[in-house]
Amino acid sequence: MDGFQAGRRRLLGAAAGVTALGASGVSLAAPSTAADWEAVARSYDIAGDFVNLENAYYGIMARPVAEDFKRNIDYLNRYNSMYLRRQFDRAGMEQLRALLAAHTGVAAEELAITRGATESLQNLICNYRLLRRGDTIMYANLDYDAMQYAMNDLAQRNGARVALVKMPEPVNRQAAIDVYEQAMLANPRTRLLLLTHINHRTGFVLPVAEIVKLAKARHIDVIVDVAQSWGQLDYKLPDLGADFIGANLHKWVGAPLGTGFLYIRKERLADIGVERGDEDYPASDIRSRVHSGTVNAAALMTIPAALKLHDDIGVANRGRRLRELRDHWVRQVRGLDGIQVLTPDEAGSYGAVTSFRLRGHTTFEQNVALSNRLFEQYRLFTVARKGPVGGACIRVTPGLFTRESDLEQLVLALKELSRTG
Ligand SMILES: Cc1ncc(COP(=O)(O)O)c(C=O)c1O
Repeated sequence: MDGFQAGRRRLLGAAAGVTALGASGVSLAAPSTAADWEAVARSYDIAGDFVNLENAYYGIMARPVAEDFKRNIDYLNRYNSMYLRRQFDRAGMEQLRALLAAHTGVAAEELAITRGATESLQNLICNYRLLRRGDTIMYANLDYDAMQYAMNDLAQRNGARVALVKMPEPVNRQAAIDVYEQAMLANPRTRLLLLTHINHRTGFVLPVAEIVKLAKARHIDVIVDVAQSWGQLDYKLPDLGADFIGANLHKWVGAPLGTGFLYIRKERLADIGVERGDEDYPASDIRSRVHSGTVNAAALMTIPAALKLHDDIGVANRGRRLRELRDHWVRQVRGLDGIQVLTPDEAGSYGAVTSFRLRGHTTFEQNVALSNRLFEQYRLFTVARKGPVGGACIRVTPGLFTRESDLEQLVLALKELSRTG
């Protein structure tokens, strides 16, 4: 086999591990019963000495994907730059873009591969070209910190103002739409709006398509952060209606760390400048909007295996299972006197991530202490988050390997803590 074929096999044969798993009697295709989900849970090689409820940071790879990643590391270590220069840098990256295009519902020419959502969104925000002195840009208190910094930087460089949207607490779909609409009315010179699809602090799913519609009617451009929603919610990029979107593949798609993409609608490419004067690609090519240098190619080579497994389970099934796990604990604690659940139960407004606080525990330090206590006393791993208007909170995020029995442990802990504080 010549090198190119070998390389193609490495890239395209990435689903081999998935097939092997199927052959070993585990069916991951469209799981629906408790036994199916137990089989999915067992396809993750997770540490057994604590309960991991912090799966919004990044996604553990299922075993077949992890095995493919290891094979790709070994292959790359043997074939080195010969493989990268002769195959992967061109044909391989193009195959990946085509694969992602099929998944996202947009053209490959509208996608560029990045190392994650931060790179995607920083490149979109910092290179946005239509801002003029005296314009306003808008984001919310709950948006991701690095994106807030990038928006502030953009405003400073262009002499623009920043308008901060404060998400109410409690929130629901209509309240969120209203608060953005009022902010747009109050800031008529708004040119650019940042939206976060699933919030990483509270788990709230923003009605992005509705807000984009309101923004577009006022000629406001929208950049959407889908870091927590891509791979978790069942949608295609055009459904959001936004022209600029940043995503990763290492959270809810379960690809290796250091994988993501950005989207720019074809007609809008000229409105995002090239990244740091890139000259590798013409300005008419979206690949000039990313210049990452030498990347973790083995991670990128594993994307097809991750997407294959993702498809086998089905994104709608995944989302349903994650919401089922989330409902399992939320249903039992929402009524407790001492507990405030920040994330609404309204259909379509939540996914896997949900946050809570002990009533009165509003400082970040109190929530860090509580998260530590949950870990030390109950072996439950969660994370403290700050930013909501009502104060800091604890974020709880199950994964596909989470069992109901794990969540019973959380319910027990929260019942005790709500009594004792
Ligand atoms: C809402 C949100 N945006 C952006 C990011 C950054 O993503 P990445 O790790 O892919 O850079 C995260 C990561 O936690 C996130 O939760």
